[in-house]
Amino acid sequence: MPGSVCPPLPGRRAFSAPAVNQFEVSPICQQQHIIEASRRWGAVAQAYSSLAQARADLLGAGPVTAAAASHGITPAQVCLSWALARGLVVIPRSSRPARIEENAAAADLTEDELAAIDSLEREDGSGRCCWDPHTVR
Ligand SMILES: NC(=O)c1ccc[n+]([C@@H]2O[C@H](COP(=O)([O-])OP(=O)(O)OC[C@H]3O[C@@H](n4cnc5c(N)ncnc54)[C@H](OP(=O)(O)O)[C@@H]3O)[C@@H](O)[C@H]2O)c1
Repeated sequence: MPGSVCPPLPGRRAFSAPAVNQFEVSPICQQQHIIEASRRWGAVAQAYSSLAQARADLLGAGPVTAAAASHGITPAQVCLSWALARGLVVIPRSSRPARIEENAAAADLTEDELAAIDSLEREDGSGRCCWDPHTVR
């Protein structure tokens, strides 16, 4: 059930929650309402595009580069650390072995760093990189 907050269908008496709900989450596309719905169902929240497909406006953002410098890690590792701290499972994609290894390491960000990264959310939806389940027919 990718990216869904579907309620039970009309006329259906039971709703079987998914074990895993996979949807887009990054600091610029946080989708907190889907994270919360997944938790209510007891589903694992799994984030795709958690690097925002390496968009420069995420990996180069001030709170990301500041945390990277502070912890001696890369901006990609900061984004993945942020997602893990928010309780998400991440599935970053890379075709490069060195980056696959890099993406397997995380750091404990401070509450101030997490809050600063939270502030990168794009309320206008411009942080979304992938398809929008709400517009699929
Ligand atoms: N269910 C769905 O509808 C759905 C939708 C989208 C994606 N997904 C899944 O989620 C996975 C990841 O999502 P995604 O591919 O959209 O986005 P992503 O993981 O946010 O970004 C992948 C891009 O980031 C680059 N990258 C990876 N690690 C990096 C690093 N450490 N530093 C800098 N750049 C880095 C990669 O380039 P290089 O290869 O050159 O490293 C690639 O261009 C996909 O493999 C797919 O399986 C599912």
